[in-house]
Amino acid sequence: MRLTVKNMIKIGVLASGNGSNLQAIINACYEGTINGIVETVVSNHSKAYALKRARREGIDTYHISSITCPVEDLALTYALYNVDLVVLAGYMKKIGESLLTSHKNKIINIHPSLLPKFGGQGMFGRKVHQAVLEAGETETGVTIHVVDKIIDHGIILEQKKIKIEENDTVDTLANRLLPVGHKLLVETINLIEKGIICL
Ligand code: GRF
Repeated sequence: MRLTVKNMIKIGVLASGNGSNLQAIINACYEGTINGIVETVVSNHSKAYALKRARREGIDTYHISSITCPVEDLALTYALYNVDLVVLAGYMKKIGESLLTSHKNKIINIHPSLLPKFGGQGMFGRKVHQAVLEAGETETGVTIHVVDKIIDHGIILEQKKIKIEENDTVDTLANRLLPVGHKLLVETINLIEKGIICL
């Protein structure tokens, strides 16, 4: 049976920065690892490299931020109205009531720690790895969870641990964790698309 777009999971991605997780999803859709298509990419930064990655692939992109768009939450809901799954891939904003309602339990986030440890307001990027090292942890990892109205709080779907080495720094941890996150994110979206993970 020839698969058509209608059989594929339509994915919307929110990203604030580089977009390497977005790229991993795009690549997986091309390779067929995910039976899906990235329909829409939204960033709150007009210069985010994630938007460049999306435009390069001909994907619809939106720059939506509270500065340029007073009704940001509604605008996000409109931009993502036709997607089946919303993925926060390095998105630095809290999700509002409108999008949480329109896509209830259909929004997932990737976070670079073993939640519930080292998550929540202000815990993103390098700050997470810094806190993990300062706490003397022997392991860290990546978490993929359902998004609810509390930051980094929703039901945990998948986690992948890595050992912290003696001479690890924030940079070495971040560099080792990034590809682990790419792989886990693609695997999790694939399990959602196949109905093995039921949201
Ligand atoms: C990744 O570390 C991810 O775990 C976290 O934000 C970062 C996004 O990186 N949520 P990129 O913009 O996808 O390269």
